[in-house]
Amino acid sequence: MNKKEKFIIRGLGGKRALKGRVSLNGAKNSALKAMAGAILFEGKVELNNIPNTEDVHTLNDILVDLGAKIQWKDNDPSSKTLYIDASTMNKTDINSEKAKVMRASVVLTGPMLARFGKVSFPAPGGCVIGARPIDLFIEGYKKMGATVRLQDEIYYIECPKLKEAEINFEKITVGGTETLMMASVLISGKTVLKNCAKEPEIVNVASWLNACGADIEGVGTDTITIVGTGGHLLKPQNSYRAIPDRIEAGSFLFLGALTAEELYIDNCNPEHLSLVIDLLKNSGVSIDIVDDKTIKITNSQNVENKSYRAFNVTTKEYPGFATDLQSPLVTFLTQCEGESAVTETIFEGRFKYVNDLVDLGARISVIDNNKAVVSGPTPLYQSQDNHLTAHDIRAGFAIVLACLIAKGNFTISNIHLIDRGYESLETRLRAIGADIRRE
Ligand code: EPU
Repeated sequence: MNKKEKFIIRGLGGKRALKGRVSLNGAKNSALKAMAGAILFEGKVELNNIPNTEDVHTLNDILVDLGAKIQWKDNDPSSKTLYIDASTMNKTDINSEKAKVMRASVVLTGPMLARFGKVSFPAPGGCVIGARPIDLFIEGYKKMGATVRLQDEIYYIECPKLKEAEINFEKITVGGTETLMMASVLISGKTVLKNCAKEPEIVNVASWLNACGADIEGVGTDTITIVGTGGHLLKPQNSYRAIPDRIEAGSFLFLGALTAEELYIDNCNPEHLSLVIDLLKNSGVSIDIVDDKTIKITNSQNVENKSYRAFNVTTKEYPGFATDLQSPLVTFLTQCEGESAVTETIFEGRFKYVNDLVDLGARISVIDNNKAVVSGPTPLYQSQDNHLTAHDIRAGFAIVLACLIAKGNFTISNIHLIDRGYESLETRLRAIGADIRRE
């Protein structure tokens, strides 16, 4: 993977000039969980449509450190096919440094506890998008009979035989739902998880586990029931395929609306995007669902800078408006006519990028750290300092989008954060006519 650390962008100055097709990758937030799920299997599993992103590589390194054998098809990550054999795993302590880089690694704890009866990992601290505690995981493990010890910032969790339990999540958690679901797959007895997250990525992983011998019911609803295999590992009789990345899709929808004359988004699942598509259509964006894998955005009026209408959004768990699309949305709203309020309900620290948009000319105020009020439209332009920074994966995309709209030349640093979630973003944007390069 290219480690060059900056994007250099020449903005379009409000023109909607990009044209062509972008193809989506497999969903990172499903692929990472399937990689963890490989620990539940006897022998080598095949995972397909795996995005070649930094987070996938980090989790790969953590699994290798634990003794798993991992190989890309033809030794080439662009093959998108990854083979994982967890039968050689010989450690139960998750590498602290790597795990701190990627908090999603906590999802490994469920399958590891299920298979090896113990696991240790670093206590996650706060991160740029919020506090991100793991109390709901810990509570769940305790209900399943595990002992939990925290010493020198390392959690030690042990339970030779996890037992059946009913776990009612106090708060909806994607990672908690996936992790406790996977922790339950090999037990003797039945686990009932209540108040679960319903994200399509969870359904994607559970369907694969079921196709290989797991008994998981109710995924995609509030209540998931898992009848364990009684200690039998799953059989790699079916391969996994990551669903299209709906967050990437949503990101490109906002990008298309603001910068494209005509943009096709290929390899997507429009059903997972219905809310975003409706919001954008109501705002005046011309969107066609071409078929079950393709969406088209057209600047039908062909008028530069024609404004869309402002609207209000509150982020919510799926099927609500995804927190991961909040920052591209706010960038979009800077170009809409009127006042919009965006309320963040999932993470408390997710408006840090707003200052950068304001430096580019946007009119946004953040209230109580959880609500952004945007007044638009405002042309964006290069201020005296044209250096910007990616704060997290999604805010990084939002800043790229803002620079593409704006008039001027920009440098964005810290782009390894963008690489965590968007594979070769600059290559795909250049292919549709954007002036962006990595340096
Ligand atoms: N929470 C707790 N206690 C817990 C677990 C979560 O209080 O034990 C809180 C969190 O602090 C947060 C809320 O519950 O306020 C929801 O967190 P959740 O567990 O659902 O998030 P996650 O599993 O850590 C995943 C995605 C995020 C995405 C969120 C919400 C992965 C690897 N990450 O995180 O994706 O924002 O769900 O949809 O699946 C991204 O891709 O850029 C990203 C941040």
